[in-house]
Amino acid sequence: MDLLEEQNKTLKSEKLPYGPLSRILFWLMDLIYGKPRSLSKFKVLEVIARVPYQAWENVAYVAITHTYKTPNFARRIFEFVRESREQQDNEQWHLLILEELVYKEGIREGFIRHRIIPQILAFFYYHISWILYVIRPAYSYRLNAHFEDHAEHEYMHYAAENKALEEKAYDGDFSKDYGRFNTLSDLFRKIGFDERHHKEMSLLRMADARF
Ligand SMILES: [Fe+2]
Ligand SMILES: [Fe+2]
Repeated sequence: MDLLEEQNKTLKSEKLPYGPLSRILFWLMDLIYGKPRSLSKFKVLEVIARVPYQAWENVAYVAITHTYKTPNFARRIFEFVRESREQQDNEQWHLLILEELVYKEGIREGFIRHRIIPQILAFFYYHISWILYVIRPAYSYRLNAHFEDHAEHEYMHYAAENKALEEKAYDGDFSKDYGRFNTLSDLFRKIGFDERHHKEMSLLRMADARF
């Protein structure tokens, strides 16, 4: 995979037309963590990124309980659970890698701003995703697609605007789990690329939303 090419593809692409909920979230994040992209801000993004997948998984397990008398349908729901899990795990690696980088860079973070507030944002975002999913799954997929589109652009811009990252090698504790990259720029491009994949999966689900 040519990660630089993938970066350019994102930078040339239009952002999706975000709805009011995602706009409020991005506005709040700019307000609390500042407009410039930073490792600490990305970490907040990743704390929130996992929760729609957790919400869908939760609803899907309840659905399996109600549909196991029609095993084929229940199996399709379970396949969806598996797909959500994969994306949730992928977001988990993003979060752990960022946590590691923040620690290694010696970035100081406040307890309220960087521990408590992200949990509160994630709590609300979980419930919004859950309720939207129960009302109509496509609504929840759309919100997630917007969130992932935003994340994709943020990571690719970060890789493009921080030339110094090209000089820094990445050999972190999670390279065995997530992959090895010659430079931090490539690491961020790969994370951005993952976000694009998550977005595309949500857009696909949105087009064919039965569960
Ligand atoms: Fe992520
Ligand atoms: Fe993502």
